[in-house]
Amino acid sequence: MTRFPSLLLVLIAVSISVSSGCTSVPDPDYLPIVPRPVTVELKAGAYQFSGDSGFWVQDAELLSTAELFSGEFSTPTGWAFDVSDEKGDIELALNSELGPEAYTLDVDANGVRIMGGDAAGAFYGLQSLRQMLPPHIDAPVLAEGVEWSVPFSHINDAPRFSYRGLHLDVGRNFFDVDFVKSYIDTMARYKFNRFHWHLTEDQGWRIEIDSYPLLTEVGAWRKETVVEKNLDPYIGDGIPHGGFYTKDQVRDVIAYAAQRHVMIIPEIEMPGHAGAALAAYPELGCLPGPYEVKTTWGIQSDIFCPSETTFSFLTTVLDEVAELFPGPYIHIGGDEVPKEQWEQSFVAQEVIRREGLADEHELQSWFIRRIEKHLNSRNKNLIGWDEILEGGLAPNATVMSWRGTEGGIAAAREGNNVIMTPTNYSYFDFYQGDPETEPLAMNWAKRIITLDTVYTFEPIPDVLTADEQKYIIGAQANLWTEYISTPEYVEYMVWPRATALSEVVWSPKSHRDRDDFYLRLGGNLPHLEHLGINYRIPERLDPLYDQSASGETM
Ligand code: ACM
Repeated sequence: MTRFPSLLLVLIAVSISVSSGCTSVPDPDYLPIVPRPVTVELKAGAYQFSGDSGFWVQDAELLSTAELFSGEFSTPTGWAFDVSDEKGDIELALNSELGPEAYTLDVDANGVRIMGGDAAGAFYGLQSLRQMLPPHIDAPVLAEGVEWSVPFSHINDAPRFSYRGLHLDVGRNFFDVDFVKSYIDTMARYKFNRFHWHLTEDQGWRIEIDSYPLLTEVGAWRKETVVEKNLDPYIGDGIPHGGFYTKDQVRDVIAYAAQRHVMIIPEIEMPGHAGAALAAYPELGCLPGPYEVKTTWGIQSDIFCPSETTFSFLTTVLDEVAELFPGPYIHIGGDEVPKEQWEQSFVAQEVIRREGLADEHELQSWFIRRIEKHLNSRNKNLIGWDEILEGGLAPNATVMSWRGTEGGIAAAREGNNVIMTPTNYSYFDFYQGDPETEPLAMNWAKRIITLDTVYTFEPIPDVLTADEQKYIIGAQANLWTEYISTPEYVEYMVWPRATALSEVVWSPKSHRDRDDFYLRLGGNLPHLEHLGINYRIPERLDPLYDQSASGETM
């Protein structure tokens, strides 16, 4: 994997891009806030924090947010940043006139005043404040000699979309609780509010289910993993891989995310991507088995059989998942379901006959609708990949449009909510630079998804009418982990591409300005540096990269 230059190099890079006389001439007083706020007004002067600084919480609802930031600010500054309901120079309050997740932030000689439309809004105001401070505010150790000041300013901010998501596939490669928390923490800093936790796959089942212990005893472990892309002839690494989250660990992650105003969307895949579940309980398949937890990637033909045994299993699993996760959504997958086993299965064909279905596609729709009815009876809403449109869409389902935006367009026209996550713009498992020099990544159709590619993504297709556009509730980037087996590698693939997406989903469309983005990003990346995030240095901010040879103009 590419090694990462130090903070110093990033700062040099910023100064080079600034002094090169090209379009990114900075306002010397710009604020390196990402995503870009709706309005920023800078004034002369700066407020300086001191050892007496602290949080003044006007509403009990904001206490946990204040305590979170108090803890985080105290390490690098060495100051307590006490939380009080009577005094303090960082005042936090609610203002019901502001919308959901919106905030205003004012800095003047008296200190900082943040008003949130709700608790999430106040939290985002503090995230912006953090990005206005010297980046050492994110250092994990005492940062001596730093002047902790923020410029006098007035910021007014609110999100463009209510769903701002990042996904992580822990099925193909398992990532432990500490890393999952770190992933959630970093995304919350950039005002993402939905973590899509892809918990089950052909290659591993990752969540403890009391009623079916073999899911984790058997399904969480595979005997080895294919080496890179050596499918034919097959070469395995001979190293067992696995892991899973206990229910207590899941509850811990949910609470951690909630404190950061991140809702978790758990995904339990069906009827495809079921290999690990079938290895544990072969009676759920259409073939007699035995099945094994898969060691190779790609679309697998082993899927759940639409039998009553399967529905009893799935509804029990979903009930346990619904009880664990407080959010309103459960994602049930629905993508990439080869139909051969259903075509040859007596059980599947009997369901088609009994229910008067036309074919296996309608059988899949019937399957999803039956699951949706169950979820709705548990007060949960179903999300599925855009294949759930084939053969008829479940009435209340939210569609994640991944094979381009067409599925999303069709669903919005039917009046269903849509989350845009098209492969072309938001698949962070794809290469982000020259495959010759990048670590192994996905390269379907030789597609390269650069930081700039992500920045040009527009979630609302202009073919939709204003009325239909309302059903596009947001967008998400996905990180599938076939080739991504370490936390450092995850971070390299996600950051800073996710910062570009944060601007797509948070900032007004009219604010999209690449030069301005790079300017703020250059000032912002040192925060990630101090956090120890293994981000990729963007070419435009890399002094070692030959800009002229790239043909790029700045
Ligand atoms: C997907 O990428 N198969 C949703």
